[in-house]
Amino acid sequence: MSREYKIAVLPGDGVGPEVVEQAIKVLEVVAEQEQVTFNYSYARLGGSAIDEDGTPLPEATLEVAKNADAVLLGAVGGPKWDQNPSHLRPETGLLGIRKALGLYANLRPAVMVECMASASSLKEEVVAGVDMMVVRELTGGIYFGEKKRFQDENGRDAAIDTLLYNEDEVERIARKAFEIARKRNNKLVSVDKANVLESSRLWRSVMERVAKEYPDVELSHMLVDSCAMQLVRAPKQFDVIVTENMFGDILSDEAAMLTGSIGMLASASLSDGHLGLYEPVHGSAPDIAGKGVANPIATILSAALMLRYSLNLDAAAGRIENAVESVLNQGIRTGDIAEDKAAAVGTVEMTQHIINALKK
Ligand code: IPM
Ligand code: MG
Repeated sequence: MSREYKIAVLPGDGVGPEVVEQAIKVLEVVAEQEQVTFNYSYARLGGSAIDEDGTPLPEATLEVAKNADAVLLGAVGGPKWDQNPSHLRPETGLLGIRKALGLYANLRPAVMVECMASASSLKEEVVAGVDMMVVRELTGGIYFGEKKRFQDENGRDAAIDTLLYNEDEVERIARKAFEIARKRNNKLVSVDKANVLESSRLWRSVMERVAKEYPDVELSHMLVDSCAMQLVRAPKQFDVIVTENMFGDILSDEAAMLTGSIGMLASASLSDGHLGLYEPVHGSAPDIAGKGVANPIATILSAALMLRYSLNLDAAAGRIENAVESVLNQGIRTGDIAEDKAAAVGTVEMTQHIINALKK
């Protein structure tokens, strides 16, 4: 009997279902090649769950995810739900599942595929050879601190969000980042705002403490504003970046864009257990949903990360990554990355090219 893996599939909203469908097609090719079986359990998350179940994160979805070997997610959100109160927002479902599954480490690799350097908005010589990993803390910080709306003493509407970290939360993400740096080029930049924020001063001191256990990794610190600048000035200086939740959200979009398009960037969210969640860095892109033009590469590469980090199918992950690269080398492009927009291929066609390359 062939090995079986349970994969929870959460297509989500907007382009989510379209791109997830493509990733599954690719996974099915892998299943055949590896002689394994993927059993998919579909569940709702985000806007579609709000509409059907009255909540962005139904209990049933959490059950499906907890019982799986890995979770593959599309994207959530859209204008339809933008005016909803916080507990009925699609994003609340996404944050909820990250928290509930303990997925505190979010890995966002930004790699410049050589033939894509001209697609970047930056000069080719600045971005050629970029290969970095952003490690974003995902279940703490200002995303999860106490928040409220109130009226101040002058009767004005006011709001507060709290940025809280304890040393354990910083320590575990620090360890993950050092381990990752060890498997790469032993260079770790910890990004904070220690000149202003107390939480950043704690962050920095814990990083220093953990660094003593990793003398082979060179740790440096950078303020977040400076990092934002360095990312566009000289991105090749970075190997691994580790940072708190909100800074990581912002910097990972910036890092993604260096490589030409956010439609290409995959992510893995890991816990200390085996379970991981894999999703593209891009959002639900409601403006192009249903048009068949979305770039499926970020989700296909997320599926590759899933094979590597959760299912121990490293070789298959590498083959998918190579297939994507070879299709790009052939000059095949979706609209978001095409210089010649008229020659761009659609979502399904791009996937077919990747599958053809994978079967070679
Ligand atoms: C991301 C997204 C989410 C985040 C949103 C959709 C809540 O921007 O995964 O980067 O901010 O974490
Ligand atoms: Mg983001």
